[in-house]
Order: sequence, then structure tokens, then C-alpha cells
Amino acid sequence: MTSKFHTLISCILCVLIAGPAAVAQQNITISTDHCALVYQIDTNRQLQQIYIGTKLISQAAYRDVNADFRNENPTLGMGFPTGGATYLNEPAMEVQHADGNMSLVLNVEHVQVKKINDDITRTDIQMKDPVYPFWITLHFESYAKEDVITTRTTIHHNEDAPVILDRFASAFINIDWNNPYLTHFYGEYEKEMEMSTAKLQPGIFSIQSKLGVRTACNYNPSFFITPQQAVKENEGAVFAGTLAYSGNFNIQFEQLQLNIDMGNSLRIIPGINAYASHYRLQRGEVFETPKFVFSYTQKGLGQISRNFHRWAINYGIYNGRQKRLTLLNNWEATYFDYNQDKLVNLFDGAKKLGVDMFLLDDGWFGNTYPRNNSSAGLGDWQANKKKLPSGIGYLSRQATAKGLKFGIWIEPEMINPSSELYKKHPDWVLAAPNRPKHLYRTQLVLDLINPAVQDFVFGVIDSLMQQAPSIAYMKWDCNRSMDNAYSPYLGKEQNALYIRYTQAYYKVLDRIRKKYPDLQMMLCASGGGRVEYGALKYFQEFWPSDNTYPVDRIRLQWATSIFYPALTICAHVTAAGRESLKYKMDVAMSGKLGFDIDVQKLSSDQLALARQTVDNYLQYQPVINYGDLYRLVSPYTTNFSSLMYVDSTKSTAILFAYSMETMQQDTWPEWKLYGLDPQKSYRIKEINLPDSVHSSFKEDGRVFSGESLIHQGLKWFLKRKEQSAVFILEAI
Ligand code: DGJ
Repeated sequence: MTSKFHTLISCILCVLIAGPAAVAQQNITISTDHCALVYQIDTNRQLQQIYIGTKLISQAAYRDVNADFRNENPTLGMGFPTGGATYLNEPAMEVQHADGNMSLVLNVEHVQVKKINDDITRTDIQMKDPVYPFWITLHFESYAKEDVITTRTTIHHNEDAPVILDRFASAFINIDWNNPYLTHFYGEYEKEMEMSTAKLQPGIFSIQSKLGVRTACNYNPSFFITPQQAVKENEGAVFAGTLAYSGNFNIQFEQLQLNIDMGNSLRIIPGINAYASHYRLQRGEVFETPKFVFSYTQKGLGQISRNFHRWAINYGIYNGRQKRLTLLNNWEATYFDYNQDKLVNLFDGAKKLGVDMFLLDDGWFGNTYPRNNSSAGLGDWQANKKKLPSGIGYLSRQATAKGLKFGIWIEPEMINPSSELYKKHPDWVLAAPNRPKHLYRTQLVLDLINPAVQDFVFGVIDSLMQQAPSIAYMKWDCNRSMDNAYSPYLGKEQNALYIRYTQAYYKVLDRIRKKYPDLQMMLCASGGGRVEYGALKYFQEFWPSDNTYPVDRIRLQWATSIFYPALTICAHVTAAGRESLKYKMDVAMSGKLGFDIDVQKLSSDQLALARQTVDNYLQYQPVINYGDLYRLVSPYTTNFSSLMYVDSTKSTAILFAYSMETMQQDTWPEWKLYGLDPQKSYRIKEINLPDSVHSSFKEDGRVFSGESLIHQGLKWFLKRKEQSAVFILEAI
């Protein structure tokens, strides 16, 4: 051992000994209550990942895992491999130094462990190139109770000229399963969050975005890996991760098979997509990558979801504990065709439903270029005088007078060429100067990198809040991706465009949050194009899709629920679909309930049922929003679906059940209520029924032991297609 290495180890021990998890050993253990990621530093001061999986009782046990094999194969679990030197597979980092040298070596310099509170421990591993004044630090946060770990990287240097960052991952995770299966979520407009599962073949597979904004439109930056094809809800190993980033991302999976040095292993490399973004890092500048958020369990996908949901509510989303607002939105009821009187009448509809808020959608602005369809007005955020002569302030006061909160739609990053804003600032758009402008939905993206545009976008929100301080909610839309991307503001530095845009987006959101901490905001991007945790740090919830057909929604909400909790998933009842109003409401109630209908068109019976459903939702909202989700019957493998939320004391549960397509060739599904307390007894009662209708569930009102509900289950009773039922289970 060199004397340098002695110094390094003693320094690490010092720091580790100072930390609470300190033991006089050389493992760097990043652990939660049930899982652990463990590193060691080898004799070359390289970071080695020696373990990921279930938390073990002793530190020594981590060192025993594969120890012999590892000693013979020093590159087995490279912790953060770099390009241009000796590692020849897909690296985590690649740079071009100021002198043009493309090689990077990272030696561990310093490890710091700090317990922030009972739940969070921070571990920073700082590494440096032995030849160049170039540093990176891996920052881990482990959330003990949630069983979630986050990791991100910061990079800086003191070289004479800028260093080009060609690749800059947020993490590098090794998993040594022989035949891993990857599930990821792909999609398109109205087909978001389709799940795809496949065995990873030897080679590199990636899910990525080059869309700039609306980045999750084709792939969500989330995935899970299992050691076998069929993932189970209640048992089995699952590793799951998501990148919290609102710009271009790239998550690579390199599956090595029969590799002489490294055996069979999977490397997961999540980070910003370097596509058109080889970042010039100035001396002294600190570059920060987004967080990669992950969890591991042996208890199946359901446990993974509950881990992510708890982490999200406690840390990942904006104001996780703020009560979410049920609402009536006018988009699908009116589209652009409305005026002040019509809106005030719609307020009465919201009142009749009993929801918390009225949300005014697209079409309220633009005068010289009125927003009567999607081709004009974006950028001119003044109320249209013809439609709304008394302005937004008046509307929000009317809503307040009727006991409703008021929300409003905006799309502040976008511009129609038919707008006063465009005539005034033609240079405020992202568009290649020497190419024809490529419009999408007749609009362009504003050059948010320009500080003047940032002020303008902030001003859209600020000025609305000045005119109507009682605005409680904004739906922030984003209806195109970037193409021909060129920022007039950046001039010759176009390779910074995608990254600087995302930084600018966060900067504006930071300003908004500082000034308007209680404002509720919905993330929308032609539906689910911005569903990811980078933006959710600023937003309470999201609109997962413009597809509101209830059967499609059952699947979409199920897939979305794997990573995102119910209180973030806006689910609106609309005219889409020929299913009954009850069915639509029962589906929407399992997310964050809203309506997008013309209430006047409801019969009095329908209205009474809708009112009852809203009242039930408001009563059980804490269970749906903060309870534990148990997915019971999968709409992906059967023609049925059932899920249940259980409160933290397992005293109250709300159970949803749906049948979907024709069932001629089907068997009835097993309906076991995993998640209840086996020691308790529960009375089961159907809700959301019209006054004169009795439950067709034979056991309605009966008391069952938790044990029998878990192990024996209930008899499935929705035997015709498109039937639904919602039950409350109360412990007695
Ligand atoms: C797309 C959104 O997904 C819709 O809900 C609606 O707000 C429209 N934009 C308005 O233009």
C-alpha cells in the first residue's frame, strides 16, 4: 500500500468515523432501512461498487459478496468509470481537457458522510484526476424510511481554458443479474405511459429524449429492472429508477455477457443527453447533473411504488402535503368557444358538483390576435376584451363570491407568430436564422435562455396574480417540442442550448415559487409530455394525458402509478367514451378527481350521483392521496382492474374495481386484498351508488377478517363489461 493510499484511507476513516453509520471499516455504505449501495476504494484509489441490494446486517457481509471474483477482476464493479483511459465500455464521464487530452482518470480524494436528520443521510464522494485540476463529486442522499436513494454529480475544474463535457452521467449502477428484464414507458400524444417489458440483450439499449421541452412525450425517464420476466406486485426483486430532469435525457443500459473481466453484468447510466450539448465548462463554474432517484426491494413492484410515492410526497413534489383541489375545467366542454356569461354559468355547474375550483382553460387572451383557435394569440397574455370584457380579476371575484377557487391556463414559454409579442420581439424565438421556421400547432418556443424572456415568462404569472390575487391554480401547458433549435441569445454557444434552456426553466420556476409559494400548479404538455420529477419539484400535479376514455385511463393511470402517487395524477371525467357516468367517475376518483363536462347536460339523477361521488372523494381524499397503494388486479394481464389505497394505520381502505372489455374467454380474477391488516376485521360497504340502487355485491355490508380478505380474497362480481364499483373498508 502506498503512503498516499494510507493518507487517503485515514482521511476517509476520519470522516466516516465522524458519521453516524460509522464503523471502523472501509466500506462506503449508502443505505436505507431495507436496501444498500456499497462502494470501496481499491488500491489504485478507484471507486468500486461492491454491492447493491437488500441491506445486510454486518458491514463485513458486504465485503464477502463475490469477494474472490472481484479481487481477480478489478473492473468488475467500477463505481464511476471514465472515458479515454483504460475503461473501454460505456463510461459515466467523458471530457476533453483544456489541452485537448480526451482521457479522464478519477481517484477518490475525500468521502464525507453527514446525517441530516432521522431520515436523510448525505454521502459525498469527491474524486480528482491525478494529472489535471479536475474534480467531480458524487452526492448521495439516502432516505431511510422511504427506501429511496438519490444521486447526482457536480463537476468543476481549474484548468486554463474551458473543459468540454462530452458525457456527464448522474449515476453509474452495476447490477449483476444474469438475464435482466427491463420495463420502460413509451408513448405519444394520447398514448402516454405504455409499458414495454423485454429481456435486455447483450449490447446497449437506451431510452432517451431529444425533444428539448415536452421531454417525456415519447419516453418517460423511468424504468424498472427485474431478474425475471414477470414482475409481481407483492414479491420478487425489483430495481427501479427515474431521472428528475425536464430536458433531454439519456438512460443507457449496457448488458455485458460472458465478459472476461466483468462476467455478466448490467450497467445503468442515467443522465442528461449530451446530444447537441457538449458543454463547455468554464474554469471555476460548477456543473450540476440532475438527480437519479432509485429504489430496490425484494417485495415486488407494489413496494417500489409505495417507496416512490412516500418519497415523492415527503420530498420529491412541490408541497406534497398541500390539499389538492377537485375541479371543473371547461376545456372539453367549450374548447375556445366561450364568453364571460357562459363561464359564470359554468361556475354554477362547479358549485352543483361540489368541487373546490373552476379552471379556465385556453382561449381567454389576445386582442389584436384573439385566441379563438390555436393559430393566434400565444404571447399576448391580456384578457380578450370581447370574450371577457370585465377581465380576469372579475372572473376570479365571481368564483370567490360563489365559494369556488379559481384557476387559469397558461402556456408562457410559447408564442404564435400571429401575436403582438412576435411583432415586437421576433428575435425572442428559438429558430435557426437561415432556415424556414418550423411551426407546430402554429407556434414556436420562446428563447427562455434570454434573461429578458425569463422576465417576460415570470411576468405572465406575476401580472395575472396582481390582477387577480385570488387565483389559486395555474395549468402550465407546453404544446410543442424544440426543433431547428437555435437561440439568438446564445450566438456561437449553441451547444449549450438544451441545457441552458432547462436551467432557465428552473430559474423562472424558482422565482415563481419564491413569490407564490401557495399557488397550485398543474404540469401539462399536450397531456403527459412533462411527467417527471425534475418539474414536479415545482408543481403539485400533472395532466397525464388528453386521452380521457375511461378504459384507456385505467391502464394509463395504472402505469403512471408505478412511479407517481395518486395525488399528482389528475383524472377528469369527460364526454369521451360511451361508458356510464358512474364508470367514468369511479375511474377518475382513483386519481385526483376533476370534471371536464357541461354540467347542464347531466340529468338530475346523474347530477345527484356526481355530487355524491365528489362528496365521497373529499371525505376519503386523505386515504387516496396519502394512503398506501396496492395494485390488486392488473388491466395489463386481465380484462379487469382493481386497486386499493390503505391509510397508514390500516383502519380505512378504499377499493376500486373495474371490468373492461368483453370477457367471453376469461376467467374471473383472483381478488385478494393484499395490504390490509391481517389482525383486524373490516366492514365492506359499496359507495358511489345512485340513491335507489342497492349494491349488487352479495357481501356488501358484511364484516371479514383482514386475514381472509388477504389470503382468500373476495369473489369477483363485475361480470359484464364496463362495470365498476368502489368500496370503503373500515376496521371495526
Ligand atoms: C393541451 C392540453 O393537454 C389540454 O388539456 C388543453 O389545455 C389544451 N392544450 C389547450 O390548448
